[in-house]
Amino acid sequence: PKTDKLRVAVITSSDSGFSGEREDISGFVICRIVKEYGYEVVHQTILPDDMTMLCDEMKYICDNNRADLILTTGGTGFSKRDCMPEATQKVAERMVPGIPEAMRAYSLQITKRSMLSRAACGIRKSTLILNLPGSPKAVEECLTYVITELEHGLKILI
Ligand code: MTE
Repeated sequence: PKTDKLRVAVITSSDSGFSGEREDISGFVICRIVKEYGYEVVHQTILPDDMTMLCDEMKYICDNNRADLILTTGGTGFSKRDCMPEATQKVAERMVPGIPEAMRAYSLQITKRSMLSRAACGIRKSTLILNLPGSPKAVEECLTYVITELEHGLKILI
């Protein structure tokens, strides 16, 4: 059935999650939070920290208008394979630096380690792509801080 809820696609970037060694708790934390705020989760997937696979997935969702918002978790740190910000920058037509800036500014009050997140945000066609860090705790803190303002931007975008 058609709904007028904003549609969210969740992508987890994690080698160990993809291989089944680790459970994707962060992806489910995102699903729980967005549902609480009235969004509909239309897609959830877990991919390895692989530039091509992450780009292809995001391009597919944006170019076929499968979601209004893509929320990613993981792959924003300093690990050699972390490439979520680079993949986001590659597929985005316009960058939105203010949202990750706001997440980091808020998160610095909780832990100074939040300065280590390289999370990015951008727009491709009518879809907003926002990177969140990898841990369930960081996801909860960052997403609940910004989610109240996302809807206004998305309404203008779609
Ligand atoms: N942001 C918040 N709000 N809370 C956190 O606990 N952890 C940080 C940071 N951002 C954290 C946070 C840490 S320890 C790292 S290494 C970076 O996010 C990158 O995380 P990622 O590599 O899992 O994406």
